[in-house]
Amino acid sequence: MDIIRSVEVMQQAALGLRRTGRRIAFVPTMGCLHEGHLSLVKLARACSDQVVLSIFVNPIQFLPGEDFAAYPRPVEADERLCREAGVDFLFYPDTALMYSPDHSVFVEETCLSRGLCGATRPGHFRGVTTVVAKLFNVVLPDVAVFGQKDAQQLRVIRRMVRDLNMPVSILAGPIVREPDGLALSSRNRYLSPSERQDALCLRRALDTAESLVRAGQRSTVVLRQAMRDVIAGVPSAQVDYVECVDDETLEPVEWMERPVLAALAVRVGKTRLIDNTVLTS
Ligand code: PAF
Repeated sequence: MDIIRSVEVMQQAALGLRRTGRRIAFVPTMGCLHEGHLSLVKLARACSDQVVLSIFVNPIQFLPGEDFAAYPRPVEADERLCREAGVDFLFYPDTALMYSPDHSVFVEETCLSRGLCGATRPGHFRGVTTVVAKLFNVVLPDVAVFGQKDAQQLRVIRRMVRDLNMPVSILAGPIVREPDGLALSSRNRYLSPSERQDALCLRRALDTAESLVRAGQRSTVVLRQAMRDVIAGVPSAQVDYVECVDDETLEPVEWMERPVLAALAVRVGKTRLIDNTVLTS
């Protein structure tokens, strides 16, 4: 595995691969890798000749007061996991290499990114689309793999690629969960043992919505309330949002006629967790 810190070296390596007809699959991450990321690497390997994984904790997608400084950076463990997973290039730029002090160009999606996490984390998706566009320009992937756990991010990136005619296919990896249902997240390591138990309310809330839909419920008012009730039963959990939105447009829906994304953001103690499921009638 090649470890590359320089933007120019990564771009030259990618150009070299493309010149020799090699297909590049790209997994962008912020590190602190877990089985969820590794499942994306597996998907990437299955559809390419070369896998590039980036680790970059992107400052511009964090709001003031969020966990940018505290975000875990277990460099050696991440490097080992990448080697074991068969990553060919680990791209590991530092902030000074990615952003000039006077950088002034941003990429912004203005529709899908308004609600859900966009409403409670204003500016977050502008930071995500900007860095992903930059990373695509450096890594030049044929395909890039994103997790369905960040459902809104996935849809925003797909829209960016479509609207800016970026020559890259976006592949989605399913949510990977612990045996008890907790969705894997780098932020799970912030949870104390009791918060770790409490965090299961996210999956329980989604299970409740799924059961109601299976039983014929189509009102999202009822589904949202049922999910809120589950979370309200856990004192350490504070709802950031509980939404049912159209799976494609991310617009709120009152009555299910097409697939609906049930999406949650919940603070358990100080840790903000997200989870989701697609409900189909
Ligand atoms: O999902 C993430 O880890 C980040 O938002 C991403 C896509 C790597 C951009 O910084």
